[in-house]
Amino acid sequence: MNSVALIIPAAGSGERLNHSIPKPFIEIAGKSILEHTLSRFTPVKGLRQVVIATSAEYLERARSICRAALPPDMDFGCLVGGEQRQDSIFNALQQVKEADLVAVHDAVRPFVETVVIDQCIEVAEDVGGAVVGVPAKDTIKKVDDDQVITDTPERKYLWQTQTPQIFKKEILNEAYAKAEQEHFQGTDDSSLVERLGYTVKMVKGNHSNFKITYPVDLKLAKLLLGESG
Ligand code: C5P
Repeated sequence: MNSVALIIPAAGSGERLNHSIPKPFIEIAGKSILEHTLSRFTPVKGLRQVVIATSAEYLERARSICRAALPPDMDFGCLVGGEQRQDSIFNALQQVKEADLVAVHDAVRPFVETVVIDQCIEVAEDVGGAVVGVPAKDTIKKVDDDQVITDTPERKYLWQTQTPQIFKKEILNEAYAKAEQEHFQGTDDSSLVERLGYTVKMVKGNHSNFKITYPVDLKLAKLLLGESG
């Protein structure tokens, strides 16, 4: 069985949610969103290490959440993230110890199913990289800077990408090092790997694995976790 290190970026400010507490630390049904998210990964068999990137202010809180949520023998570390998500993950990668695979999962996706994480691990073992996503529900348009539509790509080839995104450790390390050297900024981890020519496969997940981004997402998360409001 391959060993897996999990990186959780949790250093965002949560501007779009318009909330005083950063999203991962908001409590729903008595637990922080980060804790709900971690509970989806603890049953994963090869999981050996968890690294969480957070703001300096929430470092201690992240550590106490890890102590509460992870098995006592799990190796974990919390560190200060960077300006962008990509910088937070770059910092976290420096702390990953021995691992065959590295999984990156947003702190604010607490509904990922463990069975989907396991499938993603299997595909990453096979081809080197795998990301969870869902077929696009809506027709996606490409627009120019004036919002004039320039293309309507065929929907059957369009998927919305979620996390986890899982890669062989050396591939992800190389991708992040090259992106840093070449000042490339991507909006997900896979784009950094794809640009080097490595194969990354899509693994079908569920629409319930949404990212808590806007106030309506927080409302939905509360409903799904049995808390009204
Ligand atoms: O901002 P966005 O919704 O894309 O953030 C996705 C994840 O990345 C969140 O869990 C957030 O806390 C994290 N993040 C981070 N460092 C940043 C920005 C976002 O760890 N500088």
